[in-house]
Order: sequence, then structure tokens, then C-alpha cells
Amino acid sequence: MNTTNDIDFNPEYTTVWSFPERGAWATHKSDYRGNFAPQIARNVIEMYSKKGDCVLDPMVGAGTTLIETKLLARDAIGIDINPDAAKLSKEALQFKHKPASKQEVRIADARDLSSIKDESVDLILTHPPYMNIIKYSEGKIAGDLSNIGSLPKFCDEIELIAAEMFRVLKCDKYCAILIGDTRRGRHYVPLAFNVMQRFLKVGFVLKEDIVKVQHNCKMTNRWKWKAQQGGFYLIMHEHLFVFRKPKANEDLARIKYSANFV
Ligand SMILES: C[S@@+](CC[C@H](N)C(=O)[O-])C[C@H]1O[C@@H](n2cnc3c(N)ncnc32)[C@H](O)[C@@H]1O
Repeated sequence: MNTTNDIDFNPEYTTVWSFPERGAWATHKSDYRGNFAPQIARNVIEMYSKKGDCVLDPMVGAGTTLIETKLLARDAIGIDINPDAAKLSKEALQFKHKPASKQEVRIADARDLSSIKDESVDLILTHPPYMNIIKYSEGKIAGDLSNIGSLPKFCDEIELIAAEMFRVLKCDKYCAILIGDTRRGRHYVPLAFNVMQRFLKVGFVLKEDIVKVQHNCKMTNRWKWKAQQGGFYLIMHEHLFVFRKPKANEDLARIKYSANFV
């Protein structure tokens, strides 16, 4: 197991990211459905935090973000509403790494981060369900966002999480969220842009919109022939939005088109 920082990794420098080969270092695995590539976490953590910082992932799944914080010597809090995911995250952190840092996994609802103090976190990186495309708890856990099939209802719940993330993040620090879109009735449902608007609404400003090319998607083979015959394209990208929490009393006029100025 490679837990040194001698890892085959080149930092991204454009707004299009593509990782045909998912990073497989340390304890990273690909078996939690919908988990993101370690390269995403590594790029975001290296770009927007420094050693010793506190990183939060409030929908941590199988722990990709936390593994990377450990390898990069950042402290971290990982939260998931699903005890099975929290267990996987804890197991994935069972390796030694120097310099040491502290990772904590909690079972909680991201809509209520009251266990975390105001303005105590240096970076947030998270990856919510894309409505009910993957039903993580099969409807068994109330509060699991992957139970929700209605776009406005989903966005209302995401807005609660965005407001909590805004509260716990320090000013002038960053919050990154990976989110994809879907189709209904062969038409495009712009989930990502709707979610982005809710982040602006709670006070974040938009720093980056990174397009992440999707690879190894389980649905591709199932839908490929339908798309070819049905006159639509398979969605093969997601958005990694990076938001900044403005400084107290910051004059946003200069960046009004990146903020909620309407
Ligand atoms: C796309 S997965 C995250 C995958 C993660 N990035 C990884 O690499 O393993 C979304 C996660 O959000 C969790 N989730 C859904 N609703 C939640 C809520 N209200 N609070 C906290 N976690 C929630 C699900 O249990 C699921 O593990």
C-alpha cells in the first residue's frame, strides 16, 4: 500500500479535469457507488488548504476526502447520515502516515452541523447524491438526500446544507462541491446549476466551475444504444463548483456577476 507522498499525480491547471484511471493508492477503492476519484480530492485540498488546516466533508461516503487529508497532513471531519458509509470511512483510515493529522468520522445529518462551531473550518469538499439517481439507503434512512426525486425539494434540502457549510467555514475560505445532472423524458435536467444558485443564495461567491469528465460510468453501456437511437447524448460530465465565503464586510460590487446580486 502506497501511503507515501511519492504518488503518481500531476496537479490540474485548467477547468477541465479527466481521470480515466482512478487513483488507487493508499486505501482508496472504487466499490462505493458514486464515489469520486482521489485525484479530485487531492487537487482541491492542495489548491485550497495547507498542512494542519481543518477540512470538512459532510457527505463523506466511503471516505475519499478523508484518506487524502490524512496523506496530505490536514485534520478532517467526515460526516455521513448512513452508518454503513461511516463504517467504510473509518476502515479506510486504518493506515499510518507521517506527519500525523487527525481524522474524525461522525454519523449525522449534514443539514444540521451544530456539532461544529461557527467559522472553524478551513476548507469544505463534498459530493452529495444527484437526487435519487443512486439510492444510497434505499429509502431506509429518513433525511438521506438520495430519497428525493423532486428537483425543487432536493434543492431546498441542499440549501439547508449550504447554509450550514457557510456558517462553519472561515471567511475568505473555499467550499467545493461535485454535482452532476440528469435526464427526464429525454430532456436535460440542470441539477448542478440549480444547486449552484442555492449556494449563491446563502452567501457564497463562485470562484470556479470545473468540468469533470466522467469515466467508468455503470450506466453507459446500458444507455449507449438508446442514446444513439433516441436522439440524445449521454451525459459524461459533472461540475465541480468552488465557492468562496466572502470576508466580513467585503464589497462584492466588483464580483457581482459571481454572487447573488439579482
Ligand atoms: C455521492 S456519495 C459521496 C461519495 C464520496 N465522495 C466518496 O468518495 O466516497 C453521497 C453521500 O451522501 C450521503 N448523504 C445523503 N444524505 C445525507 C445527509 N442528509 N447528511 C449526510 N450525508 C448524507 C449518502 O449516504 C452518501 O454516502
